[in-house]
Amino acid sequence: MLTAQITGWGKCLPPAVLSNDDLSQVMDTNDEWIRTRTGIGQRHISHVSTSTLATVAAKHALASAGLQASDLDMILIATASPDTLLPNIAATVQAELGASCAALDINAACSGFLYGVGLATAQIKCGQMQRILIVGAERLSFYINWTMRESAVLFGDGAGAVILEAVTSDQPAGVISYAMHNDPSGREHLKVDGFGSDMKRFDQEAENFHLQFNGREVFKRAIGGMGKLSKQVLEQAQLTTDDIDLVIPHQANVRIIETLIAKMGVPAEKAFVNIEQYGNTSAATIPIALCDAIEQGRIKPHDTLLSCAFGAGLTSAAAVIKW
Ligand code: ACO
Repeated sequence: MLTAQITGWGKCLPPAVLSNDDLSQVMDTNDEWIRTRTGIGQRHISHVSTSTLATVAAKHALASAGLQASDLDMILIATASPDTLLPNIAATVQAELGASCAALDINAACSGFLYGVGLATAQIKCGQMQRILIVGAERLSFYINWTMRESAVLFGDGAGAVILEAVTSDQPAGVISYAMHNDPSGREHLKVDGFGSDMKRFDQEAENFHLQFNGREVFKRAIGGMGKLSKQVLEQAQLTTDDIDLVIPHQANVRIIETLIAKMGVPAEKAFVNIEQYGNTSAATIPIALCDAIEQGRIKPHDTLLSCAFGAGLTSAAAVIKW
């Protein structure tokens, strides 16, 4: 049986760290509010472009898979904060790596990395491609209005990458199920507008060019969306939550994760949480969390992982991965 297996991984977190206490120096907030409402303690802020973060993470992933850039059949970069609209940043990363392959960006917000896993798995399982680089990379600090405490405290910059390879196995292995969905009825609840072809052409400054969201609505829908897609991928894989060794959810708010996990009937210790260190890095949260879980010895050979995400669109995605 032809399967798509993760054979390499890597991450890149820019060195500058902005703590909750740092933020409280410039806006009316405090460490206690941010930690209790979100679980965030600090975030990394990048002075380099999203494509640079993505390239570093990609190089680590290639090295850990023992591959050269020339081995790649496709590069997928999930991002909501590309360096440029055209060309896509996958082209920039491809040039930096020196690869000769297909390359495109995925704009599915925080679910973008798992959308990439789904699309890449399909390419591999149908025999079309053998090795695909998937990166989640963001420089969300670019979209932050630093006078708005309700959003400025939530986000961070970073990148994570994996290599998905075609492997033949007679046992269930690699990405054994995946699902993607979008609920456009919620598209106004989470957005960056004032940009793109909607922009007033000769405006010097786009008025609403920053992240806007309806926190309570997103909170509620995130739990529903990730719960639904998780159930779907478990059913597809003919597994139950008892079969799952580790859940790697999107890291938007620790309270979202705790509520989701409790609703799914999964013990809290089975959820991987690293939002304290990085904040919400959107499409990058899951590949960064995967790298951290591996570094911390939380993933063992043959473990079964469930990953799920939710973001602007409102997108949702999930996958079951046999390690
Ligand atoms: N510091 C101190 N006080 C604050 C801050 C802050 N940074 N931000 C808001 N407050 C105040 C508000 O002004 C409000 O004060 P009031 O009661 O006097 O009016 C009070 O805190 C409560 O504000 P709420 O917005 O009701 O707080 P809530 O408990 O809903 O938490 C949060 C807000 C953290 C955004 C939460 O709704 C959430 O996590 N939502 C989902 C995540 C999300 O939307 N992320 C962005 C989208 S990305 C994604 O990954 C899906």
